[in-house]
Amino acid sequence: MMDYTDRHCRFFLRLLSPNTLLYTEMLTSAALVRGDGARLLNYDQAEHPVALQLGGSDPKELAIAAKMGADVGYDEINLNCGCPSDRVQSGRFGACLMGEPALVAECVSAMRSVVSVPVTVKCRIGIEPMPQAEDEFVFLRQFIQTVAAAGCDVFVMHARKAILKGLSPKENREIPPLKYDVVAELRKEFPKLTFVLNGGVKTVEEVTKHLETFDGVMIGREAYSNPYLLAQLEQVVFDPSWTLPARELVIEQYADYVRARLAEGHRLRSMVKHVQGLYAGLPRVRSWRRYLSEGAGNPTAGADLLLDALRIVQAA
Ligand SMILES: Cc1cc2nc3c(=O)[nH]c(=O)nc-3n(C[C@H](O)[C@H](O)[C@H](O)COP(=O)(O)O)c2cc1C
Repeated sequence: MMDYTDRHCRFFLRLLSPNTLLYTEMLTSAALVRGDGARLLNYDQAEHPVALQLGGSDPKELAIAAKMGADVGYDEINLNCGCPSDRVQSGRFGACLMGEPALVAECVSAMRSVVSVPVTVKCRIGIEPMPQAEDEFVFLRQFIQTVAAAGCDVFVMHARKAILKGLSPKENREIPPLKYDVVAELRKEFPKLTFVLNGGVKTVEEVTKHLETFDGVMIGREAYSNPYLLAQLEQVVFDPSWTLPARELVIEQYADYVRARLAEGHRLRSMVKHVQGLYAGLPRVRSWRRYLSEGAGNPTAGADLLLDALRIVQAA
């Protein structure tokens, strides 16, 4: 998620769950190829398994970017075909790419030819307007078929349409209705492909229920606002014998990481913000959040801010 799942966030989330597959923010192939690719791709080895999400629609440039990502060890390269923002549309990528399945196939194929890790696609269940007036499911099936034929076996499906005109990105994550049944239908039609469900999933119970139908579940907003959910899921989905980590221990470990990054010149605020949701739903969470956000603005504050903040949530 752009501006959220940066490397610091992913390191923090990894402390909560050893096995969840984490995704980078969308990085454009242009930024990687023509900008400071090495810095943008930099991450901590502890983040594995971690997928690099790319935005773009130029097969050659995407192939170079994918190779850069694979060369530094990303475990998967994912192409964004689901973002509806105007900026992204003007670059002819994101969700509007669903209207150009042959181009997406070309992009997938170009990336596949230079990396050995999986190349996957994240998309919506449709776009509005559709390029031609046809049945919505026929359109979607055609998209999946064309892209799968180019070598993509895994589709992360945000189970709502993207409205390309008139809605903000935020509204496009809320207003078009979620239709899990459409993704379930796809899964029946393409039994050899992997379908990961995304959109509106918030609880362990919902994840377990969806895993009866789908091959995987991707969680966006809830994983950020309530990251301890990932620890609970680690236990239920991956390893029942795994002990839930104490939140305080997670903060202590993250504080060590923050201290090391501060020494390299990273900003305290950009790292502290990710832990705000750790005590979501528990007493004194508002004071915890306030202490962190006010404290991170203090130019003399360091990693101990995190440890000091623990006193608030530990108070009797
Ligand atoms: C702030 C924000 C940034 C996002 N950035 C991306 C992105 O870079 N790439 C992407 O595929 N989806 C992005 N998304 C969409 C989420 O990945 C996800 O598809 C969507 O929020 C629905 O899932 P959820 O209900 O679990 O949040 C973003 C969502 C939010 C809220």
